Amino acid sequence: MGMRKYDLEEQKKTPYLDAYKKYLALKTTAFDVPGHHQGKIRTDFNKVFGPTIYRSDVNAPRGMDNLCHPTGVIKEAQELFAKACGATYAKFLINGSSEGNLIMLMAALKAKDKILMPRNVHKSVINGLVLSGAIPIFVMPEIDNNTEIVNQISYKARKDAIDKNPDAKAIFIINPTYYGATCNIKKIVDYAHSKNMIVLVDEAHGSHFYFSSHSPVTAMEAGADMSTLSIHKTGGSLTQSSVLLIKGNRVPRYDVVKTFNLFTTTSPSSLLIASLDSARKYLVFNGSKNIYRIIKLAKEAIERINKIKGFKAHGKDYFKLNEAYDYDETKVVVELDNLSLTGFELYKLLKDKYNIQIELGETYIFLLLFTVGSKKEDVDKIVLALEKISKKYYKENMVYPSHHYLNDSFPPLVLRPREAYHASLKVVKLKNALNKISKEMIMTYPPGIPVIIPGERFTQNVIDELIYFKKIKANILSDFEGVNEVSVVDEKLLNKKE
Ligand SMILES: Cc1ncc(COP(=O)(O)O)c(C=O)c1O
Repeated sequence: MGMRKYDLEEQKKTPYLDAYKKYLALKTTAFDVPGHHQGKIRTDFNKVFGPTIYRSDVNAPRGMDNLCHPTGVIKEAQELFAKACGATYAKFLINGSSEGNLIMLMAALKAKDKILMPRNVHKSVINGLVLSGAIPIFVMPEIDNNTEIVNQISYKARKDAIDKNPDAKAIFIINPTYYGATCNIKKIVDYAHSKNMIVLVDEAHGSHFYFSSHSPVTAMEAGADMSTLSIHKTGGSLTQSSVLLIKGNRVPRYDVVKTFNLFTTTSPSSLLIASLDSARKYLVFNGSKNIYRIIKLAKEAIERINKIKGFKAHGKDYFKLNEAYDYDETKVVVELDNLSLTGFELYKLLKDKYNIQIELGETYIFLLLFTVGSKKEDVDKIVLALEKISKKYYKENMVYPSHHYLNDSFPPLVLRPREAYHASLKVVKLKNALNKISKEMIMTYPPGIPVIIPGERFTQNVIDELIYFKKIKANILSDFEGVNEVSVVDEKLLNKKE
């Protein structure tokens, strides 16, 4: 976070929350939607949650503005958000950064426009490619062979890609990756802009950067054109609520607003919008000290976990050695070190036996998130659980499954994702998919980074990786249950015209 340039007095306001409170106090007689009329029906939901949620769920077109065409309190709340983040303007999202990524790709790109991007993007970015029809030019990120974590693209690789593709319309940056690595975003933005390229940034995991002097550089500080922030992930608002930030006019406002309205429901939840208005005020006034507190807590967790046999917790130093320019210290990646469990199994064990929900488990690692809500007792609890797990599962000279996937990195892209999406369908057994062009995205979730996307050819490594994920019962998202079958392009019927 750079120097604050906004008016702190003004940031004390919560215009949307205030109007909402006022509306609820009026106890207005309803002949409108939502049809439960503030909970006047007896449902099981009512019994579980009590009357508050139903009572607060109002549409309230009068006095509470309209998310699709804001002119009142939503407009004011969005302006306060934009100022707090150093953006020209902001749009509230009620379908997460998934919606933000779709809007960015659709607003900035037309069919066959090129965009340079890392291959380890979230599935929503691939969906944005399908919808916009843009051509991705994937640039290989650095891969940590030890943990199998896909990190950032080096500045050199990114610059070379820009130089080799001068006709690209945009570049895409993840700030930070799911695991916390960031790149030299300012230098990349400056170089891309010098070549007239638009810079789009996925900050789904970096909303807190805007409110902490101990966090890496933000997209808006770096001068990027658009960025999506999942305030619900690390900023304390309700699930789904996110914010799209826009700087300058490289992507014309008309295109942003038009695209926003393409994706936005006409019945947004007032609870989500109010939670954004209130999280912004909370973060402006409490973010910095709270994030400093949780960074210290995360460091304490690293120290304590590193004393337990079977675990190696990593922090900023480790990631900087692995080509990260900087690192988000609210994330803690723990590598399994001679433990007779995979990260997938540990993820389940922690929930089922110890009632601890961690962010993610993969073959060789698991990930802990420290957010504005984290507490010291949470660290005590997980340290105790890991000590017990270590006693049971520590095994010297443990041999881990081999790293199939990294051997030939990502599969080759041979069709535009949108072309593959619309091509004629053939269904084949996964084991027979070699060299076929995928029509679908397949991934483990979390993290939601696709193993294969529409338009890529199945390689043996991809097939082996998916068979391995099935065997260990990882949570796989694909078009066909259990990935026994996959959808591929019927190449005989391939029609290259759109
Ligand atoms: C890197 C990245 N981008 C975007 C998203 C989507 O964010 P949301 O869950 O707010 O839709 C995620 C979700 O996990 C993500 O990991």
